[in-house]
Amino acid sequence: MSEQDKRTVTLRVSRINRSQGSGVHFDSFQVPVQRWTTVLDALLYAKQYSDHSIAIRYSCRMASCGSCGMKINGIPRLACYTKISEIEHDTITCEPLSNFPAIRDLVTDFGQFFAHHKEMQPYIQNKAVESSNERLSGFQQSPEDVDKFLQFSYCIKCGLCYSACPTVATDTKFPGPQALAQAYRYFADSRDAESKKRLKIIDDRHGIWRCHFAGSCSAVCPKGVDPALGIQLLRGHMLGFSSNEKKIAQLKNRSSK
Ligand code: SF4
Ligand code: FES
Repeated sequence: MSEQDKRTVTLRVSRINRSQGSGVHFDSFQVPVQRWTTVLDALLYAKQYSDHSIAIRYSCRMASCGSCGMKINGIPRLACYTKISEIEHDTITCEPLSNFPAIRDLVTDFGQFFAHHKEMQPYIQNKAVESSNERLSGFQQSPEDVDKFLQFSYCIKCGLCYSACPTVATDTKFPGPQALAQAYRYFADSRDAESKKRLKIIDDRHGIWRCHFAGSCSAVCPKGVDPALGIQLLRGHMLGFSSNEKKIAQLKNRSSK
């Protein structure tokens, strides 16, 4: 067994219980890890062998469900997608995502995040096609049409971008990068017929213009979505500068594959 395989790390877990009004403190656990051990594995080890009461939200363990987001050494990441061997430090600090109210330990309240997502009406709206007898032919798209929105449809709603956003931190009415990226995803879909309505929803003093283009949303996304790009493309449309949009979206889709 190599030295890497024998490593032991200290897991520092943020503890809070909102229903009991308790303040935040950290508990530390010694966890043996191997090359493939993820932060989620380490947390589950601590929960099984040291403290059953550690609260964690997770499901798929394969970066698909979006439920295990947390701050790992200060950076929003998926616990199931972060291998401890990739982290240089021997102390791993796990905290709830910023910009989400903590419920208990690492479990946060996603109510506001999903409310913003819902505000964007994230589904195709096209009355003409819905009432047509030729429904299928009405929904046909070329590969170029799909390229325009494809990367944005990979979003798993994990909230990492929302947690990293400095604008969300100062304005909870701002929809945030995930919702705005989804606004672009449906705006750019050639099957949708409500593009004007979609732009109106985000053209608000707490809306798209509040983005400072920090770019932290795109930097932390585990699925290669570039919310900052979606926001810029939407702004381009609102200002009447959209001629390069198709080219930019295609280049970005290719670079994220
Ligand atoms: S855009 Fe990326 S970081 Fe944001 S919620 Fe979707 S998958 Fe998560
Ligand atoms: S457990 Fe599903 S994304 Fe991590």
